[in-house]
Amino acid sequence: MAHSENFFGDYRDFWWNPDFLVLMAKRLGLKRHKTLLDVGAGRCHWSRLLVPHLAKNPQVTAIDNDPKWVREGAEIQKGFKKLGASLDVQHSDAHLLPFADNSFDMVTCQTVLIHLENPALALSEMKRVLKPNGTLLCVEPNNRVQSLLQNSLNSEASIEEILDHVKYVLLIEQGKKKLGQGDNSLGDLLPGMFAEQGLKKIQSYLSDKAISMYPPYENPEQTATLQQWAQGSSWKSDETDELTYVEALGDEHVAFYEEFQRKYSDAGNKMMSALLRKEYHSAGGAMMYLVAGEK
Ligand SMILES: C[S@@+](CC[C@H](N)C(=O)[O-])C[C@H]1O[C@@H](n2cnc3c(N)ncnc32)[C@H](O)[C@@H]1O
Repeated sequence: MAHSENFFGDYRDFWWNPDFLVLMAKRLGLKRHKTLLDVGAGRCHWSRLLVPHLAKNPQVTAIDNDPKWVREGAEIQKGFKKLGASLDVQHSDAHLLPFADNSFDMVTCQTVLIHLENPALALSEMKRVLKPNGTLLCVEPNNRVQSLLQNSLNSEASIEEILDHVKYVLLIEQGKKKLGQGDNSLGDLLPGMFAEQGLKKIQSYLSDKAISMYPPYENPEQTATLQQWAQGSSWKSDETDELTYVEALGDEHVAFYEEFQRKYSDAGNKMMSALLRKEYHSAGGAMMYLVAGEK
């Protein structure tokens, strides 16, 4: 399964508190917008959540550079139709949008800039296709904070063990960046990047969503999250990829990588067993920024 495919379970539908989206729509005045472009849309989870907050019968355009999401477009369209919205899915690159200047009332993306080689170029493209006074809204995380969060399995960890995990995450993050595959914690830099693009009325928020996991894990968001974890993306690392990231930073880091794998390679199994025994719990915090600006 390709890396990005792990991110499209239904659990993405639980990423937001519905009343928080109502509040955000009010703060940003989204009701005035009828045309929306969703960049790096995947299965369009994000634009589907935004549709009820836009003007009546909104027209959504979604682009992604992975052709499989475009092939699924017809199926995704049905969900939008039920909401009274039209959806046009196109295959293209966020760095070079195939639209005229000033085309959309609103342009958005969710967890896409963190994957891009040149997020500033993508932002300038998003601004270019946005109408004057239109809204640019980007949702991007700081992912490195995850390495410091406690759960029932790591709450007794030594300082050394905690630092090992932080170092590992930073090595992966920096190696990925060095290879031109994006910055996993780009969210921290977004408001400044908006300012560099000359956007006005910049507003920054953090999502108030936490998907807390506690036994017996039976509410819908917990079930969807468990299903997502069972697919393997949240604890089973793709070792080949991660080693490549570490190697990109220099051979001197490979010994740490190997030692880390030796010490913690059973972490995924331990977590799975704790879940099966109904002993695992975590508050599920995340650091997800919403940054908005106007052209
Ligand atoms: C983590 S997924 C997020 C999908 C969707 N925005 C959501 O929140 O459900 C990242 C998406 O960005 C797309 N993507 C990555 N690089 C891209 C690029 N250069 N141009 C367009 N889409 C890209 C991937 O194919 C994937 O669908």
